[in-house]
Amino acid sequence: MNPIFDFTGKTMLVTGGASGIGLATAQALVAAGGAVGIADMQGEVVEQLAASIRGQGGKAIALPLDVRDAGATDEAVHTLEAEYGPIFGLVTAAGLSRPAPAEAMDEASWDLVIDTNLKGMFLSCQAAGRRMLAHGAGAIVNVASVNSLGGFAGRANYCSSKFGVVGLTDVLAIEWGRRGIRVNAVAPNGVDTPLVRNGIPRRFLTEVLENRTPLGRMAQPAEVASVIMFLLSDAASYVTGALLPVDGGLCAGYYTNRQGADLSSAALLSQGVYQETTS
Ligand SMILES: NC(=O)c1ccc[n+]([C@@H]2O[C@H](COP(=O)([O-])OP(=O)(O)OC[C@H]3O[C@@H](n4cnc5c(N)ncnc54)[C@H](O)[C@@H]3O)[C@@H](O)[C@H]2O)c1
Repeated sequence: MNPIFDFTGKTMLVTGGASGIGLATAQALVAAGGAVGIADMQGEVVEQLAASIRGQGGKAIALPLDVRDAGATDEAVHTLEAEYGPIFGLVTAAGLSRPAPAEAMDEASWDLVIDTNLKGMFLSCQAAGRRMLAHGAGAIVNVASVNSLGGFAGRANYCSSKFGVVGLTDVLAIEWGRRGIRVNAVAPNGVDTPLVRNGIPRRFLTEVLENRTPLGRMAQPAEVASVIMFLLSDAASYVTGALLPVDGGLCAGYYTNRQGADLSSAALLSQGVYQETTS
């Protein structure tokens, strides 16, 4: 293993670790030698997961919690440190979506999404960050979204929370950089997780997402996890306050159609700059 991506001896907390991006990140960190606290409100799932990782010789403990609960989050960080030593890394992947047209969105759904995706993330950063500040070292990766960069119909609550994640990441990077802690965020495009499989119509995936994404597909959770690992690792030792797109090129341009295969003009076609495609 490249020593720069070797997490042996490092203790890390992953929220939302029962599923999707958080699960893939927890698994990747364990495989790289790290000791991982897997936090999620799906308590039984994380208990089974951590037991299975330990059964295979890996280091993981389950931390069932609701990221909206400051006291439980604080306690989880202390439990993790008591088990595996000073916390070095935090990945905040707990999140959810409750789409509705803005004019019909109820207050409870707004509060749930903002409280989970933004306030919950802040509380995780605060609890882990306080310990990292005491140790003088640490790295945090917040899971933002391409919806941190542009709107998405039906998601006033979700997009607002994800724009907020960028502000939170920037402020923490500024406040904590000189004290040894880097804080970055990733902005995934659609990722093949239960959040997307259960929440987004198939037709949107093929006619919009795959069509407009130069790489022509969603990401797999492991493809986001590997970028998160990069940002946690010493390979990113001079990177803080960054929002790194993991988007298959989605945000590279606005006029993309058929993964960039469409023609921009007849003149360019006649000059041979483009060739007409039929498929
Ligand atoms: N899947 C995508 O296409 C995509 C794209 C961009 C960003 N994201 C973001 O990535 C993060 C992870 O999403 P995912 O796709 O892996 O979803 P997922 O549903 O597979 O996993 C999210 C996990 O968060 C947990 N969770 C939710 N609320 C919680 C709470 N209050 N306390 C503790 N745990 C809680 C859930 O139990 C679940 O295990 C989210 O913030 C999401 O917004 C996802």
